[in-house]
Amino acid sequence: MVVAQQYRQLVKDRECERGFASIKKTFPLSFEGEGDKGGEVDKQSHNRVRKMSNWQELEHKYFMNAVERIPVTLVRGQGARVWDEDGREYLDFVGGWAVNSLGHCHPVVAEAVAEQAHTLIQASNQFYTIPQVRLAELLVQNSRLDKVFFCNSGAEANEGAVKLARRYGKLRLNGAYEVITTINSFHGRTLAMVAATGQPKFQQPYAPLPAGFINVE
Ligand SMILES: Cc1ncc(COP(=O)(O)O)c(C=O)c1O
Repeated sequence: MVVAQQYRQLVKDRECERGFASIKKTFPLSFEGEGDKGGEVDKQSHNRVRKMSNWQELEHKYFMNAVERIPVTLVRGQGARVWDEDGREYLDFVGGWAVNSLGHCHPVVAEAVAEQAHTLIQASNQFYTIPQVRLAELLVQNSRLDKVFFCNSGAEANEGAVKLARRYGKLRLNGAYEVITTINSFHGRTLAMVAATGQPKFQQPYAPLPAGFINVE
């Protein structure tokens, strides 16, 4: 019963979100304020122009505070443009940290995602799946690389690279394992990548950190 009620609320919220998303009114491009991935958002300048919205208050209520966000709630995107809940239009120079290489909602991407979601949603890594093999082949044929390693985030990609390097060190370099990274770099939020990230403000709260990372100027 409780689940049914929660589900109905979720559907209501989604409809509300879609309502926001369908706001067609667009304002002149207006990127107000700036932020960076280290979380040094110029909040004051944002707050001068805009109060926290209900969605942002709700986020504070339910989300563990693991990242400092720019106070903008995005509801839809098209190519290189995105719109917030008030219908303001922005040019998206972030692209999900360069993840959305074809922009937002490219019709071919949207159709492929929808088609796969209707076909086979997830299979774990215990089984072969055809799209995964086809994508791996495509990547190898169009790069100078021999093999691919698929993962879910930048941090996991870096963890994979470090594990690969350590394996190589063990097999071919008398057990060499240290990885050198630079001060002020950013490599992700897993514990090992916090050690790789050369920024004390990300490291100190989680010490002791995994060994084997040297941060240099
Ligand atoms: C250079 C770099 N490496 C790694 C990461 C971590 O990626 P993810 O957030 O997908 O784990 C980021 C994310 O900002 C990054 O900018």
